[in-house]
Amino acid sequence: MTKSILTKKILYWYDNNKRSLPWRKELSQVKREYYTLVSEFMLQQTQVATVIPYFNNFIKDIPDIKSLSKIKEHKLLKYWEGLGYYSRVKNLKKTAQILEKNFNRRLPNTIDELKLLPGIGDYTSNAIMAIAFNKPFIPLDGNIERVIKRLLNLKLPKEITKDNLVKSKKILGNSTRASDYAQALMELGALICRPKNPLCYQCPLIKNCKSFKKKDFETIKERKKK
Ligand code: ADE
Repeated sequence: MTKSILTKKILYWYDNNKRSLPWRKELSQVKREYYTLVSEFMLQQTQVATVIPYFNNFIKDIPDIKSLSKIKEHKLLKYWEGLGYYSRVKNLKKTAQILEKNFNRRLPNTIDELKLLPGIGDYTSNAIMAIAFNKPFIPLDGNIERVIKRLLNLKLPKEITKDNLVKSKKILGNSTRASDYAQALMELGALICRPKNPLCYQCPLIKNCKSFKKKDFETIKERKKK
């Protein structure tokens, strides 16, 4: 099984099973950057289902980087009420102000420049590179980590180092559809390769999954950490 066949299976599954999410619409590049920025900040600590109405409300009234950079903080916080982790939205505004002032209202398209912006770390910079710019980066969130761990039957705690996971990303390959590919991996983790009760018989990677092959349901069910 080559990497490209694995990639094709994942994308085929995604095309037929992805959720329709407001930040996944067909968008102009300028909007794609803004929607990715706002959604990824919201999704940093919050589940997709919770984020959707907050995202729609936010985008309706604060539709672009210019308006975000100018909004008064007390007004802005209203759009975040209930999401918690308010440092996220404060950083989001600071980032918008920097983009407004120094980047012509656009996101920079390198990891190094992105990471200099407030609130943007390893995960979010990789997500922006993949989703907004269609570059072959894989943001390692909890969902993608779990897919990799199970696919390769990596064991806690020895083999699941950050280094190992980053190396393992290569096994997944990448695609010219980098934006879809990163989101497909997230979606597979969220909908099929779930922490508890994974839906292995609906998984496009069932024949490739070392944990499934070994009937290693400890890994599949994620042993409770003591
Ligand atoms: N979790 C983090 N980013 C996400 C995205 N773009 N789509 C779905 N779930 C996510």
